[in-house]
Amino acid sequence: MRRFRPGDEVYGDLGTADGAFAEYVSEDLVETRPASLTFEQAAAVPLAGQTALKRLRDVGNLQPGQHVLVNGASEGVGTFAVQIAKSSGATVTGVCRTRNVELVASLGADHAIDYTADGFTGTGTRYDLVLDLVGNHSLTAFRRALTSGGTIVLSGGGVSGGSSLVGPIWLMIRVKLLAPFVRDRLLVLTTAQDREILAALRHLAESGGFTPVIDRVYSLDEVPDAVRYVETEHARAKVVTTV
Ligand SMILES: NC(=O)c1ccc[n+]([C@@H]2O[C@H](COP(=O)([O-])OP(=O)(O)OC[C@H]3O[C@@H](n4cnc5c(N)ncnc54)[C@H](OP(=O)(O)O)[C@@H]3O)[C@@H](O)[C@H]2O)c1
Repeated sequence: MRRFRPGDEVYGDLGTADGAFAEYVSEDLVETRPASLTFEQAAAVPLAGQTALKRLRDVGNLQPGQHVLVNGASEGVGTFAVQIAKSSGATVTGVCRTRNVELVASLGADHAIDYTADGFTGTGTRYDLVLDLVGNHSLTAFRRALTSGGTIVLSGGGVSGGSSLVGPIWLMIRVKLLAPFVRDRLLVLTTAQDREILAALRHLAESGGFTPVIDRVYSLDEVPDAVRYVETEHARAKVVTTV
């Protein structure tokens, strides 16, 4: 039996079938879209929103009252992570470059650290949960910023912030090696999508838990420009194409 009928408004992503700007996808990959969002906003949610929610909630065991730091707060995943952590009752610190401090504060972050001026390790402030989306610090530095028994969740994806590709991969290997010997929780995650998370994100969006931040919207025939923009011009938050 089909889950959806023609005309139903859905959202989702291609999962492992990465790399398409498609109009048709399997209904297994979609959920009813958040009614509170526009189509463009809803399109911005699935991959980055799922990544943020899964890392904070399922891997990081995010709890109200925790102090959460998001390293890389101004891009796709980070803009969702800041809002999701804040709406869960955490105190949130976001790390970004100067031009994005205002954006990160507008997402609800209690503190925004401009990484071009200040670091977040070795300041004396300690975080219960660190979500790292950049991979530009050593494990030792991360652990200096963590409360005893705190959790670091490391990005499983690519890298930005000037590090080499080897940087985060080596960091993740070290995490795996050290995990049995340290008291703090060090967790690595690769991206995974499922419909439960899409449904949870819909509820969260509809209850005002987050609003996707969209940098630019392109039409389908402008996809090459959209990809160029994302790859070469340091886009902020999300870039959306319409069909
Ligand atoms: N976007 C997705 O849908 C998605 C899905 C799954 C996995 N991932 C993975 O998640 C990670 C983050 O992806 P993303 O798309 O959110 O971001 P991204 O495009 O990788 O951008 C990186 C973020 O890092 C920040 N950054 C750069 N240098 C920094 C520094 N020295 N200190 C602190 N922050 C710094 C940037 O902030 P400024 O712009 O303010 O400099 C930006 O917020 C990547 O590993 C990616 O592969 C992403």
